[in-house]
Amino acid sequence: MTDSLTVRDNRTGSEYDVPITDGTIKAADLGKIRTDDETPGLAVYDPGFVNTASCRSAVTYIDGDKGILEYRGYPIEQLAEGSSFLEVAYLLVHGALPTKAEYDAWVHEITYHTFVHENVKTFMEGFRYDAHPMGMLMASVGALSTFYPEAADIKDADNRHMQIVRMIAKMPTLGAWSFRNAQGKPFVYPDNELSYTANFLSMLFKMSEQRYEPDERLVKALDVLFILHADHEQNCSTNAVRSVGSSQVDPYSAVAAGVGALYGPLHGGANEAVLRSLKRIGSKENIPAFIQGVKDGNERLMGFGHRVYKNYDPRARIIKKAAEDVFDVTGTNPLLDIALELEKIALEDEYFVSRKLYPNVDFYSGLIYEAFQFPPEMFTVLFAIGRTPGWLAQWLELVQDKEQKIARPKQIYTGDRQLTFTPASERWA
Ligand SMILES: CC(C)(COP(=O)(O)OP(=O)(O)OC[C@H]1O[C@@H](n2cnc3c(N)ncnc32)[C@H](O)[C@@H]1OP(=O)(O)O)[C@@H](O)C(=O)NCCC(=O)NCCS
Repeated sequence: MTDSLTVRDNRTGSEYDVPITDGTIKAADLGKIRTDDETPGLAVYDPGFVNTASCRSAVTYIDGDKGILEYRGYPIEQLAEGSSFLEVAYLLVHGALPTKAEYDAWVHEITYHTFVHENVKTFMEGFRYDAHPMGMLMASVGALSTFYPEAADIKDADNRHMQIVRMIAKMPTLGAWSFRNAQGKPFVYPDNELSYTANFLSMLFKMSEQRYEPDERLVKALDVLFILHADHEQNCSTNAVRSVGSSQVDPYSAVAAGVGALYGPLHGGANEAVLRSLKRIGSKENIPAFIQGVKDGNERLMGFGHRVYKNYDPRARIIKKAAEDVFDVTGTNPLLDIALELEKIALEDEYFVSRKLYPNVDFYSGLIYEAFQFPPEMFTVLFAIGRTPGWLAQWLELVQDKEQKIARPKQIYTGDRQLTFTPASERWA
């Protein structure tokens, strides 16, 4: 017996068998349920897609109740501990871990493509001194499509691979230059003798020295943060990449849409809000009053709670450890003590326990970024660099998926119908 759902339409008395596959029914099967040939079939109303699967995907698995996150089947904890960001990028894009030869070739390709056309530098210099780095990143990623018009040929596998390499390679260059613009400092060219993440730090912070040599512990911590952000299945920005990509536009334009989605405070901006709260709390004595305010509904404890995770966000645990490593180098951030105490109190408090509110990825990441001396506007840029391989892996899956179509949701029309138009000359007479 195949799994199915029997639906009885009480408007007509008709019964329908709707097949269930992978815990889902096809929305098109519901469309066959109709009262007569004139009226449209039954549809699903789901703002925010909270219970609608938009694709089949083999990239990332999340079990929010158990606090599990896996990329291509590998637990995030193991990847953060033993892999590197570029290896994880390979895994996400290719679907399997690389051999030594494959890894070396991948790193070589990415390193070789870190430079951008000089015209990119010129137009980035044209932004205002106070331009938000995310706005600059979004514009410059989109602009890459004009430098590589062949990227429009998304049906050619070699061509797709070339653009994926370019994008992963150039994101740190564009991100670092967005930062330098706001600082009024000259742009630093990539140093291809350095690792991916060390080179990024060099482009951010190098001044007059011959070579910028970042502390390896900081490089490792930032690399881990990139790994933690590399994918998170069908979140808002990934959905944006897939939705725009479904028009078969080039991948630069699709990823620029993802950067735009990430720019929004509900997606990429929570870690900045955590920092603001910690600064406002100011010292440990003020925590109980703050917690009471949260329980009274005056505000939220930012960095806690998640739409998917109803358990400790596995990334938060890893970030907490990375924070300790960073503070060994930079000296501790006094806000860390407040964060630790806040977490301890919240995890024992009935309000948070009963609502399954645990620290999420953003609770500690802002503290780390601040220790690196990143201004808050840069936090989301770091997120975007980390998320790029995930966006591209999802885009690749989309363009090769024969079941996919151009994204075009239905609506429930609530406006007027059949009004009679009177020209302005008569209406205003
Ligand atoms: C992430 C978030 C938007 C998820 O929201 P959601 O799944 O829609 O959950 P809800 O808003 O329905 O919250 C469920 C309950 O927990 C409470 N709650 C959720 N997050 C809370 C928080 N951070 N602080 C205090 N209470 C919170 C809600 O008030 C609600 O309580 P109620 O049932 O008494 O009304 C939410 O937890 C939040 O705003 N967190 C803070 C922002 C943040 O850290 N975002 C980064 C996510 S990675």
